[in-house]
Amino acid sequence: MQKTFIMVKPDGVQRGLIGEIVRRFESKGLQLVGAKLMNVSRELAEQHYAEHSEKPFFGELVDFITSGPVFAMVWQGNDAIAISRLMMGKTKPVDAAPGTIRGDYALSVTNNIIHGSDSPENAEREISLWFTAGDVLSFEKTI
Ligand code: CMP
Repeated sequence: MQKTFIMVKPDGVQRGLIGEIVRRFESKGLQLVGAKLMNVSRELAEQHYAEHSEKPFFGELVDFITSGPVFAMVWQGNDAIAISRLMMGKTKPVDAAPGTIRGDYALSVTNNIIHGSDSPENAEREISLWFTAGDVLSFEKTI
């Protein structure tokens, strides 16, 4: 069982796509084990995107992710990281296939609706950055 960090970005929240995104993940069979609607401080945004700190688009990325509330989530399931990334679609709009979240809803590489961890190491790092241990639940489906 694997956990991954998924975030609906400010554009996804403002376009009313939280429900559609949660529906897709639930329909796939992944299990929601943590969620919160929150504003993002510049400090948290800079830590989250630390690996992009030397990139020319870093400032734009931090400005965007702090521009309005995001919906941060933890999902779990078999191969949750790879499955989520397939469902999200590629980062660049021209490469994101129809049927994926970005392929269906995004036209911009910055305003691209959703973020998902890209490796087990980053999933662990991002979950512990965005959530305290007590806010990520562990429960078995009983019905
Ligand atoms: P995300 O999956 O959140 O992780 C890093 C983000 O950087 C990515 O989504 C994009 O929103 C953003 N990004 C990647 N490449 C570029 C680029 N060339 N110009 C602007 N933003 C980018």
